[in-house]
Amino acid sequence: MTPVLELRDVSAGYGPFRALFGVTLQVGDGEAVALLGANGAGKTTVARVASGLVAPEDGTVHVGGEDLTGAAPYRFARAGVAHATEGRSVFSSLTVEENLRLSFRRALGSARVDEALGQAFDAFASLDRRRHQPAGTLSGGEQRMLSLARVLVESPPLLIADELSLGLAPIIVDEIYAQLARLHSEGTSLLIVEQHVSHALGLCDRVVMLEHGAVAWEGAPEQAGERVAERIFEHGGDG
Ligand SMILES: Nc1ncnc2c1ncn2[C@@H]1O[C@H](COP(=O)(O)OP(=O)(O)OP(=O)(O)O)[C@@H](O)[C@H]1O
Ligand SMILES: [Mg+2]
Repeated sequence: MTPVLELRDVSAGYGPFRALFGVTLQVGDGEAVALLGANGAGKTTVARVASGLVAPEDGTVHVGGEDLTGAAPYRFARAGVAHATEGRSVFSSLTVEENLRLSFRRALGSARVDEALGQAFDAFASLDRRRHQPAGTLSGGEQRMLSLARVLVESPPLLIADELSLGLAPIIVDEIYAQLARLHSEGTSLLIVEQHVSHALGLCDRVVMLEHGAVAWEGAPEQAGERVAERIFEHGGDG
């Protein structure tokens, strides 16, 4: 079966600095892959290459079998890649509800906005309580939830999530992983970049470990276990 995402021998970096050295990685149709590694290992760079934000210097990127090497980010989005980035991205003068409506109208079309809004507020009760509050006045964690609520409800074919749980309270992280599990069960493929190893291992079908910009280990979560955690600790991550 054609993988949803395939990086073949990808080298990439920023100006003269090289962050990835011949990375080969696949996400199968409906598969959930955890991308783990220490700080600076190159995880975010892989996520950027996989969504067209960074063009490879060498190697190829295919999405659903289509060669998108060097293509603009909108073509990755159109091919079904959604990238939940490390940062937050909300319109601060619009209310929570307005932000969601805008995003759902764009992604799903007007007819499905109300249904999607219902799902978003079901998933994140704390957003429901603040639906008429300007997004700019939400706390950092709440803004993060708002940007997540959008991608989670839109059910893209491939969701790339980079440090989703960063800066969020444990109970919210549990909520987010419950939503990811639901998406996965509905057929969305996932590429999860995460420092919270235990959450990622619980959800994913396969683990890819990056070290110094290269794939160091790949296998089933059951085989990863302590070995993965040890490697991340050895190389200075917070596991
Ligand atoms: N915009 C940039 N310009 C120059 N170098 C960068 C840039 N972004 C990342 N790098 C470098 O590329 C390397 C890989 O960074 P990357 O962000 O992919 O790591 P990461 O595995 O996501 O780390 P973390 O766990 O800390 O988020 C690092 O050495 C980093 O300093
Ligand atoms: Mg990162």
